Amino acid sequence: MSTLSARMREGSMAEHRAAEASVFVTRLLEGGVDAAGYTAYLLRLQRVYAALERTARAHLHHPGVVAVHDPDLERSAALEADLEHWAAGGPREVDSPAVAAYERRIEASTGVAGGAGFAAHHYTRYLGDLSGGQAIGRTLDRTFDLGGRGTDFYRFDAVPRPKPYKDAYRLRLDGLDLDEAQQEAVVAEVQAAFALNQALFVELAAELDLLGAR
Ligand code: HEM
Repeated sequence: MSTLSARMREGSMAEHRAAEASVFVTRLLEGGVDAAGYTAYLLRLQRVYAALERTARAHLHHPGVVAVHDPDLERSAALEADLEHWAAGGPREVDSPAVAAYERRIEASTGVAGGAGFAAHHYTRYLGDLSGGQAIGRTLDRTFDLGGRGTDFYRFDAVPRPKPYKDAYRLRLDGLDLDEAQQEAVVAEVQAAFALNQALFVELAAELDLLGAR
């Protein structure tokens, strides 16, 4: 029988490939998104991470939340710093149906699998940030010639070596006492989290008029 962390990874491989291939992500990495477009992305991420971070702090009595919560990973301050680079003094609100749906799902996730549903959302964003996110940060830096500015989001000063951190994180997930139905619910929640990210990319591609922009 596979471990929960392996099931989460395997259960979201197709969704991961779709996210990598999304128009917004592809165009971003090839330099086809301008500062206003990147700001639109950061403003959405700011709301998503605020929901993740506030929900975690409010539910630290759940083992499924405690297993993944780590203040060292929190991204809200980094996003604010990046927004100061990309849109100093600009508005910090964004109207986004995709984000609103994502926030609602994050908030409801503590009611899934005895709280472990939240771990699915945490995993999808933070483990992604510690994985492909590191390469994405380097590509953005190169593409926009940023010299390290405006990319705090991808920098985890408290996690100098992501690999052992991710291994320990997976062991904590695997140590959760979940029955089969609860494990299936967590994997389904990971798939839902990927779908919500994909919806956010689709919304951005439409708003930024990236479809057919080649
Ligand atoms: C161009 C875009 C992307 C690239 C190139 C990329 C690349 C990667 C790579 C190479 C890994 C494996 C790293 C390792 O084994 O340590 C990984 C893992 C991961 N990625 Fe991505 N990724 C991208 C986008 C995304 C997005 C948009 C999400 C979710 C919102 C995401 C979520 C994850 C997660 C959760 C993992 C951890 C899988 C696991 O080990 O269980 N990735 N990514």
